[in-house]
Amino acid sequence: MHILSTNQFKKDEVEKLLSRASEMEKSLRDSNTSKLLSGKIIACIFFEPSTRTRLSFETAALRLGANIISAENAMGNSSAYKGETIEDTARMLSCYADAIVMRHPAAGSIETASKVTETPIINAGDGANQHPTQGLLDLYTIQKEHGRLDNLSIAFVGDILNSRTLRSLVPLLTMWKNNKFYFISPKELVLGDEYRKYLNDNGINFEEKNNLEDCLSKVDVLYMTRVQKERFSNIADYEKVKDSFILKMEHVGKLKSDAIIMHPLPRVNEIDTEIDKEKRAAYFRQAQNGLYIRMALLLHVFNL
Ligand code: CP
Repeated sequence: MHILSTNQFKKDEVEKLLSRASEMEKSLRDSNTSKLLSGKIIACIFFEPSTRTRLSFETAALRLGANIISAENAMGNSSAYKGETIEDTARMLSCYADAIVMRHPAAGSIETASKVTETPIINAGDGANQHPTQGLLDLYTIQKEHGRLDNLSIAFVGDILNSRTLRSLVPLLTMWKNNKFYFISPKELVLGDEYRKYLNDNGINFEEKNNLEDCLSKVDVLYMTRVQKERFSNIADYEKVKDSFILKMEHVGKLKSDAIIMHPLPRVNEIDTEIDKEKRAAYFRQAQNGLYIRMALLLHVFNL
């Protein structure tokens, strides 16, 4: 079984993953983790930089008793540099490993790789398309922080056009009732036409805005995103929009008392570091939750 997109899941599967992640969190807290993946080898191959996703997957595998083989900076240090295709890379890794965690800058590339092997491949982010394990850890975070996944208002702020975290989290949240989305971006980074059509065709409740102030008092989740320099072909275009939205303490004062601030990280300038000490700043707790969800996902692909 491959994990390619959050669109592949049914609600009951998502609920099981959330519940398994909670078990994993408890087992780590109690220092009582079962070595259910003993004897397995997990390959982590990243054609784009990563801190959280790669290292939390490796930690998840090790905590569950698996061994890892890892290729970071695979664009330069794997045989992709010599011209090997993503399909041949997947075929090779499936000769060595029992599951493959893969990140690549090209949208759709992980799905392409998955077509040539039965070895489970987990999409660790494919360009601006999907980052399903991030979407699931975001959902787990919202459930933990708010105690519910329905009747929520969620504002995504920043690079709406290129956000794979948005594309992964929105389909999950729409499995629950009465969730409303605000997409706040500079005009250069608004939703793509195709994604807007998807939202409209699926009856998803959303508004597009270019002003952060309008939504602050209404939202339960303020989800900041980085303007992704790596998705721009022209650096001048990036410079023009990179600091469009910077969250400051004066904004936090306008949020509801139980609202949370999320960010997939890494951040550049978009959240003032002064906010880190706020109890509503959930982004480091969010990153920590990635470990529990990735443990649950590794077990899931082995039907354990
Ligand atoms: N959120 C996230 O994917 O972080 P990394 O790029 O560090 O893996």
